Amino acid sequence: MILYFSGTGNSEYVAGRLAEAISDEYLDICQRLKNNDYSAFSSDRPWVIVAPTYAWQAPRMIRKWLIKTRLSGEKKIYFVLTCEASVGDAAGYLKAIAERKKLEYMGLGRVIMPNNYFILSKVPDREKALEIIAGSEEHINELAYRIKNREPFDEIKRRLFDKTKSKGINKSFNSWFGKHPIDRKFEALDSCVGCGNCEKVCPTGNISIGEDKKPVWSGNCVQCLSCISRCPEDAIVYGKKHKEKYFCPKL
Ligand SMILES: Cc1cc2nc3c(=O)[nH]c(=O)nc-3n(C[C@H](O)[C@H](O)[C@H](O)COP(=O)(O)O)c2cc1C
Repeated sequence: MILYFSGTGNSEYVAGRLAEAISDEYLDICQRLKNNDYSAFSSDRPWVIVAPTYAWQAPRMIRKWLIKTRLSGEKKIYFVLTCEASVGDAAGYLKAIAERKKLEYMGLGRVIMPNNYFILSKVPDREKALEIIAGSEEHINELAYRIKNREPFDEIKRRLFDKTKSKGINKSFNSWFGKHPIDRKFEALDSCVGCGNCEKVCPTGNISIGEDKKPVWSGNCVQCLSCISRCPEDAIVYGKKHKEKYFCPKL
């Protein structure tokens, strides 16, 4: 069973591709994350967790959720992180989670996808994004082949500073969210119709719809960017300088 979270569609696309290739189901865990729902799953097929990379780690909310959620039946567990370039030493942490859950760690697959961090960095245009995704299709097939045949993924070679990035820098990154209201820069434009989709797709329950029918952010943002990129009216912006947005062009 494939369990995935995706802010801007990359991991959703990869989860869908894997599901198709191994003929298994793929489930979005966003509502479970939001509702702190740790009810058990059961499957007789290998577990596959698919998510984006945040600061050289699997998102902290997913690691925490996974530790608390019982996965019964099948013992083998694979992890797949989509990223722009590097997952750092994320594998070490995911292996530890698998061991804690008495599951058999089958490895971490790294799938290079377009950078989605549009509020802080430059993101590729549609054409370039499609090119990057096309460059990863073979690797996705290879990962699917391994899962189907219950073989482990190849180990990702650790590079200099990977440990520091996934440990110290990741820690600062996560505590930064707690201390600073980074979401005070989110804003709904006049074109917002108050449909509440942003509230629905926020994995941390950080968005509520105010009396004026506009979203209100409450200081617990993980910057998944789902609210902006999945807004049907394209009515959410971050900061005064409106940036190029990103949503996986394959969806
Ligand atoms: C908050 C944040 C942190 C990120 N950190 C990393 C990182 O450490 N390494 C990397 O290669 N890409 C990083 N990225 C890029 C995303 O992991 C990548 O674009 C991913 O495919 C997005 O997946 P999604 O569309 O399923 O949300 C980061 C993006 C965001 C928004």
